[in-house]
Amino acid sequence: MSKTATIEIDGKRYEFPIIKGSENEEAIDIKKLRDLTGIITLDPGYKNSGSCTSKITFLDGELGILRYRGYSIEDLAEKADFLEVSFLLIFGELPTAEQLEQFEVDIRKYTLVNEEMKSIIDGFPRTAHPMGVLAALTSALTAFNPKSVNVDNDKEMYQAVCKTMGKFLVIATWTYRKSMGYPLNYYDNTKGYVENFMNLMFKLPTEPYKASPIVIDALDKLFILHADHEQNCSTSTVRMVGSSHAGLFASISAGVSALWGPLHGGANQAVLEMLEEIHKNGGDTDAYMAKAKDKEDPFRLMGFGHRVYKSFDPRAQIIKKAANEVLETLGVDDPILAIAKKLEAAALEDEYFKSRNLYPNVDFYSGIIYRALGIPTDMFTVMFAIGRLPGWIAQWKEMRENKEPIGRPRQIYTGAALRDFNKPE
Ligand code: SDX
Repeated sequence: MSKTATIEIDGKRYEFPIIKGSENEEAIDIKKLRDLTGIITLDPGYKNSGSCTSKITFLDGELGILRYRGYSIEDLAEKADFLEVSFLLIFGELPTAEQLEQFEVDIRKYTLVNEEMKSIIDGFPRTAHPMGVLAALTSALTAFNPKSVNVDNDKEMYQAVCKTMGKFLVIATWTYRKSMGYPLNYYDNTKGYVENFMNLMFKLPTEPYKASPIVIDALDKLFILHADHEQNCSTSTVRMVGSSHAGLFASISAGVSALWGPLHGGANQAVLEMLEEIHKNGGDTDAYMAKAKDKEDPFRLMGFGHRVYKSFDPRAQIIKKAANEVLETLGVDDPILAIAKKLEAAALEDEYFKSRNLYPNVDFYSGIIYRALGIPTDMFTVMFAIGRLPGWIAQWKEMRENKEPIGRPRQIYTGAALRDFNKPE
């Protein structure tokens, strides 16, 4: 006998089924609520509302659990590489060695970006924020790949996946090259995906360039940690835009714009800017803790808190360990890392933060590693987007394969009642 929920309205009782997920999460299925009662629910920010069922990522905010297709983030970060995890998220199973090799070969077929895209990027001022340029260039890819993918055709869907993985990485690095006034680089099909990221970013035509294997390994792990996170703001945006049957590039472009916000993926840039400001002002972390707790002050401790994780963000734990290792290996003595640790220690002891379950999230330490790897601060959120791309693709593909209806939330109107049209005096 499955569980039900009963709602009583004006003396009348209505029963709704309670569904249970594979990890025992439960939800009241209210698909028929308005038809039966004429009443809707209201849940700004969807803190209590599920938008879909999904087989891709499971996270438990109380226990600090994160799994992609059933594999723990700890195992994947330690034992897999980014393209392997991308294949897992998108197609549901870890690839065999042969499938992984073929995946990389097939991505390479699409790493050449149409030369006319360069005239689009030339239209931006060098000072444009890379995330704005990336959102525009991603949407512009539709112009050069106008045929929308038939999601029911496995071959077409696979090609669209490889095309998106290949081209997005290149245009993401072009946003940096543009900001520096450097010539735009091409993907080198003789090198790996993450090594190509470093070449695309930093290789200059005037001298030889070889990315450090330590850096490539650290970035590969960081991309895995960012690859998916169930129905976060940007992923929900990708699913919402895709639900109108807008194309994959258009949906990803919308996800890039949602990720840009400082409350979401833009937090990694905001964290570094906050830590640098604290450092510049003498390292007085107590003063910034006080600002974060002052309701009159809009300042928030960036990199702290999470909509779902109310114990700890498992990614933050892994990244903090990697930050120590990378800085030690590279011989970087960054005073910003010391400030971050001092801030973390203070917040973990502070009643305001403890009572609100505010712990370091994925963005708190990632910027410190990016900085040590030579990534400029305004490219930090682009790094997040490169990591999150396979998750966006996987979620968009699942939504379309499940033939989900167009997303269209309701509202409660609180504005003016009907009134005659009289122009104001
Ligand atoms: C990401 O959803 C995802 O999965 C996202 C992400 C992913 O992988 O996709 O994990 C990536 O976006 C991580 C979050 C990055 N953002 C930041 O670090 C920005 C700083 N954090 C906050 O703005 C905030 O914590 C949010 C936006 C992350 C979560 O906000 P919630 O869950 O809506 O919490 P809230 O705004 O309702 O705050 C609850 C209380 C409030 O105080 P009271 O009104 O109860 O007195 O906690 C306070 C808030 O003022 N609070 C903070 C705070 N975060 C929440 N106070 C100071 N500093 C903070 N960072």
